[in-house]
Amino acid sequence: MATEGAATAVPSSSGVSGLDLVKLTKVFPGGGVAVSDVNLHVDHGEYVVLLGPSGCGKTTTLRMIGGHEFPTSGDILLDGESLVYMQPHKRPTTTVFQHFALFPHRTVLQNVEFGLKMHGVGKEERRKTSLEALEMVGLEQLSDRYPRALSGGQQQRVALARVLVTKPTALLLDEPLGDLDRLLQLRMRVELRNLQRQLGLMFLHVTHNQEEALSMADRIVVMNDARIHQIADPLTIATKPATELVARFMGDNNIIRGKVVEREGTRLVVEDDHGVRVSVQAPGEATSVGEPAMVAVRAAAVEVVENVGGPALNSAECEIVFVEFLGDLVKLHLTVGGERMLAKVPGERYPSFRGREGEKIRISWREDDGQLLHA
Ligand SMILES: Nc1ncnc2c1ncn2[C@@H]1O[C@H](COP(=O)(O)OP(=O)(O)OP(=O)(O)O)[C@@H](O)[C@H]1O
Ligand SMILES: [Mg+2]
Repeated sequence: MATEGAATAVPSSSGVSGLDLVKLTKVFPGGGVAVSDVNLHVDHGEYVVLLGPSGCGKTTTLRMIGGHEFPTSGDILLDGESLVYMQPHKRPTTTVFQHFALFPHRTVLQNVEFGLKMHGVGKEERRKTSLEALEMVGLEQLSDRYPRALSGGQQQRVALARVLVTKPTALLLDEPLGDLDRLLQLRMRVELRNLQRQLGLMFLHVTHNQEEALSMADRIVVMNDARIHQIADPLTIATKPATELVARFMGDNNIIRGKVVEREGTRLVVEDDHGVRVSVQAPGEATSVGEPAMVAVRAAAVEVVENVGGPALNSAECEIVFVEFLGDLVKLHLTVGGERMLAKVPGERYPSFRGREGEKIRISWREDDGQLLHA
C-alpha cells in the first residue's frame, strides 16, 4: 500500500488509444485510502459509468482524471500520454462538471461563452462557437434568456453546451442527474445518452444510482471501498454479478450461502443451513466439496410454484412475509427458515398474492440463473 500523502506518481507512455487508469491510487493525508489500485481502459466514444455506494472513491477517481486531485501513485494516460503532471486547465481533452450549475446573472449565451473566456478565446470566435454549441443541444433560440427562465432540462442542456464548447475529448460527469426530479432525470438520461452517441465522445459518468447506470452505460465499473469489483456491460452486471458486494449493491438478488455438497465437472451443488440446494455452472472454479460457497439468484428469475412440496434442487418452500406492489411488478418478500428471499413477478399477478402474508408457497429457478459469487 502506498504511504500517506507521498506523491510518487510516475508518468509513463503506452501508445494505446483512449483513457487508461494504471494502478491509480489516492491516499489522503490523515485519511484513509480513497482509491486503491484502479486499472481501467476506456475507449474513445464509449459511455462508462462508475457506480458504487457513497464514499467508495468515485469522485476522487474523476477528480484525479480532471486534474483536481494528484494521485498518490499510478498513472492516467490519454492516448498513451500521461496527464498526471498537466494542470487541470491545460487538459483540453477532459472537463469536469458537477450538478450542471449555471451562473444565474449571465444569459444562456454568456454562460456558454464563459468556458471559452477561461481559455482566452477572442469575443467574435467565442460568440460563434458558443452559438454552434447551443445549436448542438437545440437551444440556439433561447440564447438571450437567463437560467431562471429555463426548465431544469433546458438548464442542463445549457450546462452541457458550456462544456462541449471547449471541444473536449472526454467528458467527466459527477452525479449529473442527482438534483433533478425523477421525471426530468428519466428524460435527461435519454437526452444525455443520445447526445453522447451523436458526438461520439468518451463519457465517464459517476453515480450511485443502479438504474441510471444500467440504462445509460456501455460498460459499468462497480466500485466499493476504493476498489473495482467488476467491469462489464449492464446486462452482465445485472445478471452475472461477480462478487457478493455487486450482487447486494445491484439489489434484488437472493444470496444463498452454504457449502459445496456435490461437484460434477463444472457443475456445483451448494446447500445452505436451511436445506436450500442450488446448482450452478462454474467453469474454471476450483471450489471442492465441503468448501464454503455463495450463489446469487436474481429475484426476477425466481418463479412461484403454488404447490408446497416437490423437488428440492433450485427450489425452496417459503412463507410470504410481505407483498409489495410496484406497478409493473410485484415484489414478494419471503422467508425460508429465517433467511430472507425475494421473488419478482409480473404486476398482473398482484390480485393473486394480495393479502396472502403468512401463507406457504414454493419458489423455483433455473440452474442457468444461479451465479457463483466471489467474496
Ligand atoms: N479531501 C479529502 N480529504 C480526506 N479524505 C477525503 C477527501 N476527499 C474524499 N475523502 C475520502 O475519500 C473517500 C472517497 O471519497 P469520494 O468523494 O471519492 O467518494 P464517492 O464515491 O464520490 O462518494 P459519494 O457517492 O458520497 O459522492 C471517502 O472516504 C472520503 O471521506
Ligand atoms: Mg462523489
